[in-house]
Amino acid sequence: MPARARGLPRGLAPLISQAQIYRRLSAMARAIPRRIPVRERPIAIVVLQGAFIFAADLLRRLPSTYDIDVAFLRCQSYGSGTKSSGRVMLLQDIDSEIDLRGRTVLLIDDILDSGLTLKFLTDHLKRRGAKRIRVCVLLHRNPGSNASGIVPDLAGFPVRSEFVVGYGLDYAGRYRHLPGLAALVRHAHSGKKQ
Ligand code: IMP
Ligand code: MG
Repeated sequence: MPARARGLPRGLAPLISQAQIYRRLSAMARAIPRRIPVRERPIAIVVLQGAFIFAADLLRRLPSTYDIDVAFLRCQSYGSGTKSSGRVMLLQDIDSEIDLRGRTVLLIDDILDSGLTLKFLTDHLKRRGAKRIRVCVLLHRNPGSNASGIVPDLAGFPVRSEFVVGYGLDYAGRYRHLPGLAALVRHAHSGKKQ
């Protein structure tokens, strides 16, 4: 069936439905309190912009008795194409008054690809005093193959080489609002990430 027949914009193919995402998120949310006990004073740090919907849905599934702070930072490794620039920029750090010393960070990002972004952020948050970093991503590209040494503690779904959009992820600023995940049909586009 053509993608448009399923209500997707032209040039996108359905990949993972909202219902599939929600089922997986419930399991991931159950794992978090087991991995990070409250005594480690957890703080979720959400990587904007791509992780905003994932983080909102995941955090709302945590037990209401689980005590966790939430903070945001923003970084960029892709300009407007589908290839990493190979350089990560921290566009906005977490608030300066947040003290990470002795705490466990749940670092939430949309996708672990080369690992460059999460390696950069892990080093940065350790410099800011975090005791432990737990990496949580919705998508993991080609698990087992990234050169940065970053292994996610929690990952939603493996993906292969397809460029993924929707559910917070964009292509040149587009498609973040789609409720499920879709793959860019390569020949229909030419160029962006982040
Ligand atoms: P890495 O630094 O190569 O691991 O890339 C991670 C960042 O690239 C993610 O935080 C995303 O913002 C972006 N990215 C990588 N692959 C995709 C994709 O398929 N769709 C949208 N963004 C992507
Ligand atoms: Mg990102």
